[in-house]
Amino acid sequence: MAKKNTVATLLAMKANGEKISQLTCYDYSTARLVDAAGVNSVLVGDSLGMTMQGYETTLPVTMEEMIVYGRSVARGCRDAFVIMDMPFMSYQRSVEQAVENAGRLIKETNANAVKLEGGAAVTAQIRAIVDAGIPVCAHIGMTPQSVNAFGGFKVQGKGEENARRVLEDALAVQRAGAFMCVLECVPPKLAGLITKKAEHMITIGIGGGADCDGQVLVYQDMLGMSGEFVPKFVRRFAEVGDIMTQAFRDYDAAVKDGTFPTAAQSYVKSDCADEFLQTLDAEYGTEAAECRN
Ligand code: KIV
Repeated sequence: MAKKNTVATLLAMKANGEKISQLTCYDYSTARLVDAAGVNSVLVGDSLGMTMQGYETTLPVTMEEMIVYGRSVARGCRDAFVIMDMPFMSYQRSVEQAVENAGRLIKETNANAVKLEGGAAVTAQIRAIVDAGIPVCAHIGMTPQSVNAFGGFKVQGKGEENARRVLEDALAVQRAGAFMCVLECVPPKLAGLITKKAEHMITIGIGGGADCDGQVLVYQDMLGMSGEFVPKFVRRFAEVGDIMTQAFRDYDAAVKDGTFPTAAQSYVKSDCADEFLQTLDAEYGTEAAECRN
């Protein structure tokens, strides 16, 4: 029988060499489906700025928005471990700001952990949030909140100097107390090396190859709901976008040609007697007649 995933059960999975599954999620009904499928962890990513709100980057997402989406997700998860992303500029300014906002995300959504982007540069924030009793997932490699600094969504850790920097970031966030770290768009051999060196920290790959302890994908990407562009690291496990579009087309046609609804979708059994309806018809006349009076 499935049971609640916790920091301890997830770390035990790493220790036993069992792979960990994670998906993004932003609403209650999807969270219920992901949870029922047995996915270990759900990430309320600030990617919701792009997937749910239609922005080009994650930068405009606010704390208030994260809390609204996060609450709905947490209500839909029984067993999955729920991680809340800290949005851009909710933790960068100071350690105090980071602890306060991490606390809000946990208190106001009922999630289990927070995630923040950055390596060595944010270790003071990670340490302070962990000291406040909140588990932290770090995020290194291609960190979307730094899209302007990177000059686009680009693979990180290529070349010796960059590879060393990504490894040092991983070790720094582990030392600061992160129990989990997302490795985004990092060459697979480097991600494998980090996973081996990170003895007390779970690595979750997204474009990080098969040697990470687990994998995360944006659910709209893996369901084929996010349009034409498909990042290299995505596998489409279904074409739900096509199924939904066809269903919307069928509905539109059925409403317009009168084949929806039928008696099966109507409250026929509780209908009033025909004679009574005729009485009402006669009694009330037409609305137009009423208006003329
Ligand atoms: O915001 C997000 O969804 C993420 C994942 C892509 C790791 O950070």
